Amino acid sequence: MNLKHIRFLLFIMLYLPILAVSENPKLPLIPMPKNVKVNAGNFIISKATNLSASAELTNEVKYLNTYFKNNHQIVFNLDKKAGNKIVLKINSLLPNLPGTYSISSNSNELILEAFDASGIFYGIQSIIQLLPINQVNEVSIPLIQVSDQPKYQWRGMHLDCSRHFFNTTFIKKYIDMLAYYKMNKFHWHLTDDQGWRIEIKKYPKLTEVGAWRNGTMIGHYRDQKIDSIKYGGFYTQSDIKEIITYAQERHIEVIPEIEMPGHALAALAAYPEFSCSKLPTQVGTRWGVETNVFCPSEETFHFLEDILNEVMEIFPSKYIHIGGDEVPKDEWNKSDLCQQLMKDQNLADANELQSYFIRRIEKLVNKKGKTIIGWDEILEGGLAPNAVVMSWRGESGGITAAKMKHPVIMSPGSHCYFDHYQASPEKEPLAIGGFTSLEKVYSYNPTPIALDSTEATFILGAQGNVWTEYIKTPSQVEYMMMPRMAALAEVVWLSKDKQNYSDFLGRLTLQIPYLNYKKINFCQTEFSK
Ligand code: ACM
Repeated sequence: MNLKHIRFLLFIMLYLPILAVSENPKLPLIPMPKNVKVNAGNFIISKATNLSASAELTNEVKYLNTYFKNNHQIVFNLDKKAGNKIVLKINSLLPNLPGTYSISSNSNELILEAFDASGIFYGIQSIIQLLPINQVNEVSIPLIQVSDQPKYQWRGMHLDCSRHFFNTTFIKKYIDMLAYYKMNKFHWHLTDDQGWRIEIKKYPKLTEVGAWRNGTMIGHYRDQKIDSIKYGGFYTQSDIKEIITYAQERHIEVIPEIEMPGHALAALAAYPEFSCSKLPTQVGTRWGVETNVFCPSEETFHFLEDILNEVMEIFPSKYIHIGGDEVPKDEWNKSDLCQQLMKDQNLADANELQSYFIRRIEKLVNKKGKTIIGWDEILEGGLAPNAVVMSWRGESGGITAAKMKHPVIMSPGSHCYFDHYQASPEKEPLAIGGFTSLEKVYSYNPTPIALDSTEATFILGAQGNVWTEYIKTPSQVEYMMMPRMAALAEVVWLSKDKQNYSDFLGRLTLQIPYLNYKKINFCQTEFSK
């Protein structure tokens, strides 16, 4: 070795580590992990790579195996002595917070450690986001060191399957999209005026009658045009169990919403005896709010108890969303039964009657060890003692509830309604209205400054809502949710001080090949035009 060689070697030894850590390349990671460091070099994954894991991680091992087999034609090597290795390990010494994980890697070994199985799953998603697409047999990711944990425990997405029905194949794709962004709650809106979508064995007419409408609004609401095409569909209990299992494998909890006492026209078309007028009616064909709602009779409570018991049997979630929004009191004010009930129960007005209704339902749900969630209208007339409030008419309902020490999920229309326009309406497909840009979603802070630090602990997180009056197809659902869900995913995962919109846009741009590969439709207006 001559002097020139020695000088060159010295240069490499001195400067390479500095070059390696200072040049943190942009990575296609969303949400951005709390701490990431990139070292020089790659971890190569091929058929020579060995995979080993703690015994309790069979689900995550299966997920990883399936992912590599389906997307890269890689089946991991079973010979533990040869090749590099991926190690998945539960480490109970990591911070005691579900979802916490760390990744360390060198060219021989990639170790993913987590506090629990969900953390392993999130670590796997980070790895997947770093993988090239359309490459088989051998892929590589940069040598990364990651330590990461979610900021909020409720990282939710909602889908309205009443106004338009989406089959289980799409629901699985929807869940896959949530999983990729480390979202962990799927709020499944299963009943509304325009269609009842869940099979209830004790009341078959709910789906025989309630799942089908004789027409659908076309064009905008103001045009008041309705076609005469029969429309509908529903999920059997077996479909629903299949979806729940699919979601569980991806660490996503499925929360059913069974709307009451309003948004109940489809149920009342099947069983008009549970309305105050008891008159026959039809499944809704126009959007908006219907005045025909459940009557708070003993018979109705019995009917709803039967339904909820079946629902609670199917869904393992500890939460049942019971709606509670937009309940016109017209029918109640006209009803002798309601007037008498208000007298008997000492209720000052129809708002207190609504509160009485929700409290009765809460008791049925609590009896089974579960908790109700309701839209913020459930605050009116007095909040049920154990209810979780989902704040949609701005944040004020959520703030009030948190001050009352009730758990809150923030989902204000201003930032979390993905049925709103996301770009200039002239260039966009018809939507319900409103305007919620990608940047606006990204700017959201689910913890209002009006709360002190103790009250703030009642904010479970935030949720994006996809109401589907104007969203007829899976591809349109994707377009409305993406990329806004990606922005919300970072809002609920990463602390505010680490968020940076232009950096997010750069990472989002890097994800375009993946979105195309997965055939996910998305709105590109705000980035990489
Ligand atoms: C709602 O958007 N009506 C909760």
